[in-house]
Formats: sequence, structure tokens, C-alpha cells
Amino acid sequence: MARYTRTKGSIALITLTNPPVNALSSVVRGGVVEAVARAFEDRQVKAVVLCGDNGKFSGGADIREFAKPMSGPPLVPMIHAIEMGEKPVVAAIEGLAFGGGLELALGCHYRIAHAKAHLGLPEVTLGLLPAAGGTQRLPRLTGIPAALDLITTGRHISAREALKLGIVDQITEGNAVDAAVELALSVIGQPLSPRRLSTRSPPPLADLDSFFDAALAQVKRRSRGAMAPVACVKAVRAAAELPYSQGMQCERELMDTLFTSGQARALQYCFFAQRAAGKWSLPNGAQWNTSRPRAVQTAGVIGLGTMGRGIVVSLVKAGIAVVAVETEKKLLDLGRKLVKGILERDAQRRGVTPPLHLVTFTLSLQPLREVDLVIEAVFEDMELKKRIFSELSRVCKPNTLLCTNTSGLDVDEIASVTDRPPLVVGMHFFAPAHIMKLLEVVCGSRSSPEAIATAMTLGKRMGKVSVAVGNCPGFVGNRMLKLYMDQAYFLLEEGASPEQVDQALEEFGFAMGIFKVGDLSGLDVGWRVRKASGLIGPDVDPKFPSRMRQGRRYSPLLDLLCEQGRWGQKSGRGWYLYDSAGGKEARPDPEIRSFLQEFRLRYGITARRIDAQEVVERCVFALANEGFRVLEDGMAARPEDIDMVYVFGYGWPQHRGGPMFHAAQVGLPRVLQRLEFYYRENPDVPHLQPSTLLRRLVAAGSPPIQQWKQHTGNLHSQL
Ligand code: NAI
Repeated sequence: MARYTRTKGSIALITLTNPPVNALSSVVRGGVVEAVARAFEDRQVKAVVLCGDNGKFSGGADIREFAKPMSGPPLVPMIHAIEMGEKPVVAAIEGLAFGGGLELALGCHYRIAHAKAHLGLPEVTLGLLPAAGGTQRLPRLTGIPAALDLITTGRHISAREALKLGIVDQITEGNAVDAAVELALSVIGQPLSPRRLSTRSPPPLADLDSFFDAALAQVKRRSRGAMAPVACVKAVRAAAELPYSQGMQCERELMDTLFTSGQARALQYCFFAQRAAGKWSLPNGAQWNTSRPRAVQTAGVIGLGTMGRGIVVSLVKAGIAVVAVETEKKLLDLGRKLVKGILERDAQRRGVTPPLHLVTFTLSLQPLREVDLVIEAVFEDMELKKRIFSELSRVCKPNTLLCTNTSGLDVDEIASVTDRPPLVVGMHFFAPAHIMKLLEVVCGSRSSPEAIATAMTLGKRMGKVSVAVGNCPGFVGNRMLKLYMDQAYFLLEEGASPEQVDQALEEFGFAMGIFKVGDLSGLDVGWRVRKASGLIGPDVDPKFPSRMRQGRRYSPLLDLLCEQGRWGQKSGRGWYLYDSAGGKEARPDPEIRSFLQEFRLRYGITARRIDAQEVVERCVFALANEGFRVLEDGMAARPEDIDMVYVFGYGWPQHRGGPMFHAAQVGLPRVLQRLEFYYRENPDVPHLQPSTLLRRLVAAGSPPIQQWKQHTGNLHSQL
């Protein structure tokens, strides 16, 4: 609803009231239309101030209404009526003005914001565009480049940046509503036409064609296959070239297309799935998230390698004091230098002082005595980790939580050497840990709900999307990834090239194809682990290894490649060729073609033509198939959690929702049929065999994703 009051005699104050963020639901819109009409009719009212309850202007549309038929007055004519009114309307922006909220403010004649407010048009992140005139009014106010940036990225800006861009007329450190009332009083009687954005022309821009061509190319590069950013560019282009009314029509048509697209549904699904991930529960009904997390004020990080450094940075940025431990002075100094560098660059970008005082660096575990929580990030070596955890049991106070960043070792085995298995959990970050948003919180069989709650909450505080997962090899993300990668190698063996596979995956929407990712992260890492564990040992012919292992097909391609010293970008050659060691520009390498030809010849494989559809289906359906198994095994509480793991940890395109959502969108019967087909073609790849849960779901008529867990039957959750 909207509250109507009078102040200072001649000012009508209209307050949007819909907690928590004053979303513009049908009831609120109805209230605003009524209140504005009343203010315009009342002859004693000379100006209007529009604000939001509880220190928040408006968070925009009510996403929950998207799935329902439209009711209540639409936003576009409502905003138009405000703009065309004969009395000045001032928007008092406190807290936030996002999406429809900002569009409403743009229809007002003046805008004033509190210094701490944030503004933005995030529709693109939900697969939409600002369709209440935002794409038409903002370019007329800020100029085309700035509007295009905000609309195509959906980024939030501070009130200060909004002032610089001209989006608000003033900012205030005091009460924004009081300041808006003052402003309203001061502009009574002044002409309103220059303040009506829809009647203005955007500031001219030279060479529109090349500007928009470049903009289009940029958004396509940034978000492959996503429709919304492209539609945003087209809508802003309409603002630049067409009169307002035609621009609005274009905005509406583009919105209609987006609104009914699968992409918008996928992005909205992600929006809710991300929020749901924090509300984990046990399938037996016990709500773990009702356990109170412990307060974490101090933490220890052991190991300042690739992962440890990023973890230290994330903790410190969350305001947590950190003791960082290394083995030798040289490595400690290097760690200190790199952590300091990241914190300084970050602080500079944000215009704040780097919180360097929060980290201490040491060569001893003793200073960990008093910390609330420790995260271990040493080499992936069980014996080493066990040694450290038993030492930590002795050093740390009895209630310190002990966490491991292992990417796949058994958390229970690590916990078993401590004096406190209930306080041991996995906190699996992704590289680079200060940037990647995913945190898998690995629940050991004895981890206490309180310990899990603490790790989940800490992750959130560090700006991560925390997902609770079970303790199985590779946990959720890496367990599924293995099967996806296997398919990619098999495709090479059968006739594809790395660039062909990567191109198909990139066209599907992955930021980077799987072979480019391998080159970037270093192909030799897994190879060394396999070597160390005897999988590629003296008893295995390095030149002609078996393609079968434990009765199933195994691809030795990667190991053969690594034997040649092709380790990826770091060695200047991997699946691609680079200008030099450390080079970034991937070029197809004729040597790889011969390498693959030779491989096929040696093993008697006749290369066949493989199209993009097969590449995507085999990689992506294999991934989803293992996702179903993860659900069967109770290693994830919900399919939504698996999807969040992939979206935030593995570059899965958000506009496709995640592997499980994608499977549902393609249609489970089709996924089943294609898996059956590929399994028939590749009977030596058991993982292509459709999972029991997938079969059950298809038999049950493919229920919506939210009901899948009910079909895991009597299979027990490990969470
Ligand atoms: P890294 O080799 O870059 O760093 C490990 C660091 O631990 C080294 O600096 C080493 O000196 C230090 N260290 C070894 N023993 C120590 C001890 N007793 N006390 C203190 N420091 C010690 O390894 P990285 O990549 O950072 O991996 C660390 C852990 O994180 C591993 O368990 C790994 O599986 C896991 N992980 C790695 C990811 C990656 O992409 N690199 C992703 C997610 C998890």
C-alpha cells in the first residue's frame, strides 16, 4: 500500500509501504495511483514527496508476482501520470532504489538520495530489462554510455556515483525525506517541462552505429548466449534513435520476448535457489539452519599457497582478524606480500583503507591458541593434513572449529585424528578464493549442526554462496565435474578437436570451454596426483596405457599430453598453443591434431564427425546424470543446491539455471532418451547409464524440480 500524509501545509507525502523492501506489488501500485491522484486533485497540495517506509525507497518489482497473471495498475502509465502531473514530485531515496523503484524515481521531477543509498537497474540479472521506461528515461538523463553500462550490467551504484552521473540532484547525510520536503517547497511554481525526462532528447553521441556495434559485441562476449543484455542494448539504442513513444514500444516488445523466454525463468530460478541454499535442512525434517551459528571474530589459516592467500583476503574483508601460518620464512614473506597486494588493490578500488592490521603472519601454530576457527589449506596430502589436525587438537582451545579446504579428501578421516570430530567440517573454497563465490560446506558424519551452521554463516559473511554438501570423493562439484571432463576426453578420442568441443560449450554459454579451463589451471596438477598414487606407474606403459580401468573406459589422453611437457598456459603449450609460457591467447595447435590422429591410429579408433549437439548433450547430460546420483546418495539436500554449485563454482551460464534446471527445461524424458542412446553407443562408459532417480522422475511424469527430492524414496541422505 501507500500511506498518504500532509506536511508543511502544502506537501503531500506518499510513503510506499510493503516490507521488507517496499516492492512494487499490485497493492502498492494501486495505493500509489490513488495517492498521487489525491495529491494532484487537492488544491492545497503544491508539491509531492515520494518515499519508502523503513528507510528504503523501493527494491522494485515483486518477483513473486512474475509467475501470476498481471493484476493492479501497471507501472508504465502510473509513472507517466506522475511525470506529466502539474505538481512537482520529488523522490526521497533512502536505502535503495532498484529496478522499478528507480524507474519510478526517474518519473519524478527531482531526486534526492541519502549518502548511503544504493541505486541500480538489476533487471538484466533476472533475464529482463527495465521495462517501466528505464531504458528510455535513463539515457535521456545520464547520456547513452553511462545508461548502457548500468542497464546492461545491472550493477548497483552508490548515491555518490548517482550524483556524479546526474541520476540524483542532491545527496544528503541527514534525513532524505526532510531534505526532499525542503526541496519540494523550494521548487513550487517552477516550470516542470525541463524536468520531464521523457520529453528530452538524450545528449547526442557521434557515430551511433559503431558505438552500438561495439556495445553489442561487448555484451555478447561478456555473457555468451544470454538474451537480456542484447535486448538491453537494443532498447537503449531505441532511446538514442527514436522518439520516446516509439522507444517505449520497442522496450515493451523486447520485454515481452524476454519475459516468456526460458532464460528469464532460469535466472529467476537462480535468484531464489541462491537464497534457498542458505536454508539447508535434513531430509528427516530436522532444520539444521535453526542451529545457532557461533560468533567468529578470529580465525587461523594454515598454508599461504594459491588457496590460503585468497581465504585470508576474504576473511579479512569480512572484518575477521586472521593469523596466517606458513612453514618457512621465504614462503611466509611471499604470502604476506601477495595478500597485502590484493588487499591494497581492492581497498584502492573501493576508496577505503586496506585492513592490513587484521592479519598477522607466523611460522608457528602456537598463535592459533585463541582463535575461534581454523581453515587448513596445505597440500592435498592426507597424512600431512592428519598431522596438522592432531597438532591443532593440542594447540587450539577446546571449542575452536577446525575446517579443511580439501578439494576431495575424506573429511571424516581427517576428523578422526582430532579430539573434537563434531567441530570438524570441510570449507571447500574455489580458486581464486577471494573472487569465486562458491563455498561447499562439507558435512562430515560427525560434524555438529552448530559447526555446519557456523561455517555456512561465515561463508555468507565472506560474500560467498554457501552450499551444504555431503562427504564423498570430490564432494558435489568435483564429483560431477569428473564425468563431464571424461566425456570431453572421449569426444577427442572419437574424432573431435579441443577447439570444436570448447566452441560448442562456449556457444552453450560456458564462459570458457573445458580445454581452455584445463590449460589455464594447469594440466599437470591431476597428472602428478595420479602419478603419485601409482595410477601412472612403472607397471603402466606410459606410451601405450590401457583405455580400460576397473572395467570401465578411461581416457589416457591427458596423461600422454602431460608426459610431453604440455601442461597448459604455464608451459606455453597444452590443449592449445600460447605465445610463450604464461601466455593467455589460445591458438589451435597442429601438433595436437597429429597427437590425436596418432592416438586414434594406435588404438584403432576411426575418427568420426561429431557435431555441437553431441558435444553439449554428452557433456551436459552426463553432468546432470551424476547430479541425480548425488541426490540419490543424499550428498546434496536439493537439486537447487547442485545448480548453485555449478553456477557459482564452475562458470555454468546462469541463464541456463544450472545442470539440473537445464535437464528439467530440456525435458526429463528427452534427457533420459539421449542418455540411453549414448549409453548404447558407449557401453563401456557406465556413467552414461541413466540414473535411477531420473528414471523414477520420468515414470512419475516429470514433476517440477522442487518435488524431485520426494522421489529419492528410501535412499538415505548423508547430509
Ligand atoms: P599450494 O601448493 O598452492 O599451497 C599449499 C601451501 O601450504 C604451500 O604454500 C605450503 O608451503 C603450505 N604448507 C604445507 N605444509 C604446511 C604446514 N605444515 N604448515 C603451514 N603451511 C604448510 O596448494 P593450494 O592449491 O593452495 O591447495 C591447498 C588446498 O586447497 C589443497 O588441499 C587443495 O586440494 C585445496 N584446493 C585447491 C584448489 C585449487 O584450485 N588450487 C581449489 C580448492 C581446494
